[in-house]
Amino acid sequence: MGLWKRRTDRRQRVQVDLERLPRHVAIIMDGNGRWAKRRGMPRKAGHAAGAETFRTIATFAKELGLEYLTVYAFSTENWKRPEDEVRSIMGLLEKYLHEAIDRMARDRVKMAFFGDLSPLSPELLDLCRQTQEISKGYDGCQVNICLNYGGRDEIVRGVKAFARDCMAGRADPNHLTAAAFGNYLYSAGVPDPDLIIRPSGELRLSNFLLWQSAYSELYFTDVLWPDFTKEELLKALADYQHRSRRYGGV
Ligand code: FPP
Repeated sequence: MGLWKRRTDRRQRVQVDLERLPRHVAIIMDGNGRWAKRRGMPRKAGHAAGAETFRTIATFAKELGLEYLTVYAFSTENWKRPEDEVRSIMGLLEKYLHEAIDRMARDRVKMAFFGDLSPLSPELLDLCRQTQEISKGYDGCQVNICLNYGGRDEIVRGVKAFARDCMAGRADPNHLTAAAFGNYLYSAGVPDPDLIIRPSGELRLSNFLLWQSAYSELYFTDVLWPDFTKEELLKALADYQHRSRRYGGV
């Protein structure tokens, strides 16, 4: 019944049922620094390679028919990194968003940003606003870039916004549900991620989508993000398709 996509790499055959894809895949793009270090290169070279991988995977996600792809590009904690490294990540984002604007009418990928964008440079902020504005009517794949994002920060902001609504008489705490609270988050209107992928061998969520990941399937691989290929995504999707999702039921 299902349409099977067959891709062969040297070691194994990966089969993914394109009719049972997760709607929403989220990725922690980790391992750029180690990738660069192993090659005797500066960390920013790792981020540049990671940005290339992001391009490849975002294009492939759209080709496969995924509805939502969310990536962790910069966390609320990443400001602690050396200034030069922060600048290079912001520069890569600017470059990518410029390209995205050029290609938008053709690709019809909807772009959104999760995070507090206020500390970004005026140039980057403007690019974020432009890409969101241009693509808001598109209905194909939606790419969410988590930028100055932290899961706890997102929840605290949501709680504050809800408290303000209560004080203004627009909301009633006695009637709050989990679904309604979701509308106070950056991800309002976006379904929770079905699958969260973390490359680079680390086995934690690192403050990523803490609210939204309640029932997400988690997939970890030792592959470093710059080495993450389309084949690796297919492997993660195939693994996901063998999971039994019960959401607390039987
Ligand atoms: C984590 O690897 C990666 C980041 C903090 C930055 C991710 C940014 C990009 C891939 C480039 C820009 C993004 C887009 C969407 C164009 P790490 O540096 O923590 O790696 P390590 O754990 O090996 O040190």
